[in-house]
Amino acid sequence: MIIRVLEKNAPDALVVPLAQQENLGAQLAALARLAGLDPAALQNDFKADPKEVFVVYATGTATRKFYLVGLGKKDNFQTLYTTLRAFCFRYRNKLPRQLGIDLRHFPAAQLPRLADAAVSGMLLGLYQIGLYRKDPEPNTVPLFGGAKSELQLLVKTSRHKEITAGARRGEVFAGVIRDVFDLMNAPGNKKNPGQLSDWIERAGKDSGLKVRILSLKELKAKKLDALLAVGQGSPHPPAMALLEYRPKAGKSKVPLVGLVGKGVTFDTGGVSLKPSSNMHFMKSDMGGAAAVFGALLVAAQLELPVQLVAAVPIAENMIDGLAIKPGDVIGSHAGKTIEVIDTDAEGRLILADGVSYLHRQEKPDVLIDIATLTGSIIRTLGYAAAGLFTQNDQLAAALTQAGENCGERLWRLPLWEEYAADLKSDVADIRNFSGKPMAEAITAAKFIEQFTDGHPAWAHLDIAGMAFGDTELGQSKTATGYGVRLLVEFVEQWIAK
Ligand code: BES
Ligand code: MN
Ligand code: ZN
Repeated sequence: MIIRVLEKNAPDALVVPLAQQENLGAQLAALARLAGLDPAALQNDFKADPKEVFVVYATGTATRKFYLVGLGKKDNFQTLYTTLRAFCFRYRNKLPRQLGIDLRHFPAAQLPRLADAAVSGMLLGLYQIGLYRKDPEPNTVPLFGGAKSELQLLVKTSRHKEITAGARRGEVFAGVIRDVFDLMNAPGNKKNPGQLSDWIERAGKDSGLKVRILSLKELKAKKLDALLAVGQGSPHPPAMALLEYRPKAGKSKVPLVGLVGKGVTFDTGGVSLKPSSNMHFMKSDMGGAAAVFGALLVAAQLELPVQLVAAVPIAENMIDGLAIKPGDVIGSHAGKTIEVIDTDAEGRLILADGVSYLHRQEKPDVLIDIATLTGSIIRTLGYAAAGLFTQNDQLAAALTQAGENCGERLWRLPLWEEYAADLKSDVADIRNFSGKPMAEAITAAKFIEQFTDGHPAWAHLDIAGMAFGDTELGQSKTATGYGVRLLVEFVEQWIAK
């Protein structure tokens, strides 16, 4: 797809995103006059409600078709992104080869950001989920998105360079998030730990990342015992992916950000087996890994002036004769012994090894782990925000702000010492579950905290409700891409300060 930023042009069809603001009536009247329609009728029929689409056929103008698309009350990054994604998905088989997005009515200062939103939204609306379908959907001859198709951003300003950069950013995010979608939507039998490691290694190296996969032998040598224990019930051995992105030489020294993402390729719960009704969704239990991997890919492809190191512990949590059992005591990279009360609380075990390994090995200035960690965070925050846990107020503020800016919300929960009491074990240094059905997202965070060696800028993000959910892209729950933008935009802002 060719993406162009233009001031004057008349594409075959023009998408006009409109918000419910004071000048909506005047905007519609102008459009009505251009298309030869009755202004009052158009004002009556299109209210710019969220995701409302109204198609106008015009005669006497070079552009014959206008798609008026409602943004609701807000015309910010997130609404433009989600609205255009939903629009493009819904109309993807009807859109012409050459499509324009009218951005001329937005403030010039916002255009680089809105160009990013528009491009990433449109491109991701073309996402096709049927990875393993033999028959393509009937009647799909997509013109837009096919060969020689073109997306034109129409703007009224001379700041083309910045807007083009914004559009390019949107294109990169969309490409990376498309890969993250594929990874998340892939079933457990197509992304076992070996396959996921291979995927990360290949795609990472293609984008210029430094990638190293720790094999079973190396995991043992480095005493990543908690990760090994979680993986021991699976015929597919666990692994740890180590990724690194450094900016090209000549850039001034910037803080090193360390990222750890939970990469459970399938979570049966292990011997503490999950109920079967929704177990298939547990193929998405590598959402933290996907977000971290995606963030590094974006940084590399955009050559961002940031420094990132990442550790992605990868394992399949299976039920088996060799699997860990409730009550087993295991070791960890940090040296602490852990009593495994519940084998379904496996995420915190592999993250414990991930954060202590990355911290000790790389000494990052900021340490963030991200994981589909608990059902409890869904009962707490629903599908509106991920949980944020940190003792560092400055870090909390920066992460929250980044989430606000890109529409990937975070909400902070406490890490008071009272919550650690329930993790005391009689036989080991710590246990992985209190056994009490309360504040489970918080005690999970408290557990991981014990493995950070008191890092002054550690944060934990519980994205269980956000990584996989209801979207227009599929019938059932599908990948959302949550976390990729959040991490990238957080790091950019953190470094700018
Ligand atoms: N992967 C799950 C958490 C999860 C739940 C992710 C729903 C996405 C959607 C995690 O490993 C888990 O099983 N957590 C348990 C912890 C409990 C045993 C303390 C949970 O939340 O029930
Ligand atoms: Mn689990
Ligand atoms: Zn899990």
